Amino acid sequence: MDSVSEYIFNALKDLTAVEVIHLKEVDSTNDLALEVAKASDLLMTVVLADSQQQGRGRRGRQWLSPEGNLYLSIAFKPRVHIRLLCLSLITLMAGVAVVEAVDRLYGYRLDLKWPNDIMIENKKLGGVLTESRLSPEKPPIFVIGIGLNITDMDFPEELRGSATTLSSYIRPEMISRDDLAIEIVRAVFRGYKLLINTDTKKIITSWIEKNSTLTKTVRIEQDGSTIEGLAEAIDQSGRLIVKTKEGQRLTVESGSLFYC
Ligand code: BTN
Repeated sequence: MDSVSEYIFNALKDLTAVEVIHLKEVDSTNDLALEVAKASDLLMTVVLADSQQQGRGRRGRQWLSPEGNLYLSIAFKPRVHIRLLCLSLITLMAGVAVVEAVDRLYGYRLDLKWPNDIMIENKKLGGVLTESRLSPEKPPIFVIGIGLNITDMDFPEELRGSATTLSSYIRPEMISRDDLAIEIVRAVFRGYKLLINTDTKKIITSWIEKNSTLTKTVRIEQDGSTIEGLAEAIDQSGRLIVKTKEGQRLTVESGSLFYC
């Protein structure tokens, strides 16, 4: 165990059986967390990396992962039955956890854009990528991957207007990536307990309280189709209800959302 994983492990050991891995470089923290969790008996595996070679975003996109930011994955291997098909709800829960953690540590209020974006003043600060292993013979595993831009970075042209970093809003010397990771894992664990107690209402209520999507006119691009309308509500599985101009209500499971 290096000093970073020891620091994080010590701060989390009251929670539950947890393994903490910190690496300077990894392909993707999500992949490593899944691999470790497969071979583990522990409920929670936490993987933190200084940089990623093949960081993944949603919909097969690349996630820029230079040194200086937070790349964190938390794998859960629950022993109890949990409605794992609700990956969207887990993603909302993780977004809420990040907002809570930043608020607790720095008193700065982020907000959430459906389905997985972590925003600050209309710009994307980070995102959540939830993945799972579901197999009839083996215990289910789900992995929550969180990327949060902290340090100043040279964004490619196409992201310059829409992406940002925490150090543009909070003095960089105030920000501790490791403390952020600890607070996020704690908040995710609180959310996990709500999930296993099927207290999904609380998750939805917290997400609604922190979201910036509802009541806006949105366009959602899915593979091959586009939906436009008013983002009216979130259902109990974390799906977005969109009311189209024609008055039809559509339930949207996933997609890339833009404000119109
Ligand atoms: C998105 O907004 O598209 C989701 C981004 C998720 C990025 C994180 S960084 C840690 C974890 N490992 C990955 O490869 N992806 C997630």
